[in-house]
Amino acid sequence: MNTLYKRNFLRLLDYTNEEITYLINLALTLKNKKKQKQEKQCLLKKNIILIFEQESTRTRFAFETAAFDQGAHVTYIGPGTIHMGYKESIQDTSKILSQYYNAIQYRGKSHQTIELLSKNSTIPIWNGLTNKFHPTQLLADLLTIQENSFKNKPLSEISWAYIGDTRNNIGYSILEATVLMGLDLRLIAPKKYWPDKDFLNKCILQGKKSNAKILCTEDIETGVNNVDYIYTDVWISMGDSKNIWYDKICDLKKYQVNSKVLSLTKNINTQILHCLPALHNSQTIIGNYLSNKYDLNDGVEITNEMFKSKNSIVFKQAENRLHTIKALMVATLCKNPYCILL
Ligand code: CP
Ligand code: NVA
Repeated sequence: MNTLYKRNFLRLLDYTNEEITYLINLALTLKNKKKQKQEKQCLLKKNIILIFEQESTRTRFAFETAAFDQGAHVTYIGPGTIHMGYKESIQDTSKILSQYYNAIQYRGKSHQTIELLSKNSTIPIWNGLTNKFHPTQLLADLLTIQENSFKNKPLSEISWAYIGDTRNNIGYSILEATVLMGLDLRLIAPKKYWPDKDFLNKCILQGKKSNAKILCTEDIETGVNNVDYIYTDVWISMGDSKNIWYDKICDLKKYQVNSKVLSLTKNINTQILHCLPALHNSQTIIGNYLSNKYDLNDGVEITNEMFKSKNSIVFKQAENRLHTIKALMVATLCKNPYCILL
């Protein structure tokens, strides 16, 4: 049964283990149907608004192409093009958009904004990234892990190490995914980049139900020991002021994903994940600026060598943004998502 119909998706913990499993399996079905050119449309005549207060490549285009594949229409709103929050309240905007649209995707700086949107809307609200969480990214990550794990290990037997800024939206969503699905997570960072204590303790407590393991450590060797996956994210997140860049990079320099870190796993099957965008070389303005200024070793949070290595599955992860976002849209907007099989 589809219990997700008409529901919001603001963070992973809005859903149960069974509901996340349902979404991942639906994504896999949709992916196969698309590859076999047999996809059926079940979102015809649906109108979806995509509000982006910050830039995006994967999330925006995954929502747009998923909607197109399923027959829905989208309106894209970029930074600075809507009254919301300036001349009109978030509450009023949400009520008005609920009269025109069937769902709202929101990417923005503040998680409070999406909470206000959801409290005042009568249609599903999907979180496309806030300062606190990036749940649609984790749907893609879980599908990628399910598809690529050595000897098809089930999710509940997977160990992963998240290294770098573990206090950010990806870190917090990785924690929630770990708790829900019962994974073994090692967060590796200097102490000041560990998650907020209250949030971490709540996750540890809730993780007892699913047998999740959560370790925070400053020691890379302990953290990556025999892990199935190493995950990293940009050290400079959207909205991080330039004033903190210098300190952040100096603090995290030691935590770059490079060949030494990979060898410390002592596991030849360890694979590398990154939500992207990645600063793995100097081919971007910001990558060039940071790697020259701070004398980093060919890349910022990850070296070019590791990014391109056979262990890296980052492009598979990026592809799965499309299929998992599509599953979310179909599950929340369609009473019977498996009409795609009829
Ligand atoms: N991973 C991710 O959310 O990428 P975008 O910022 O390009 O959407
Ligand atoms: N932590 C990053 C994630 C990008 C997908 C950011 O917020 O910019």
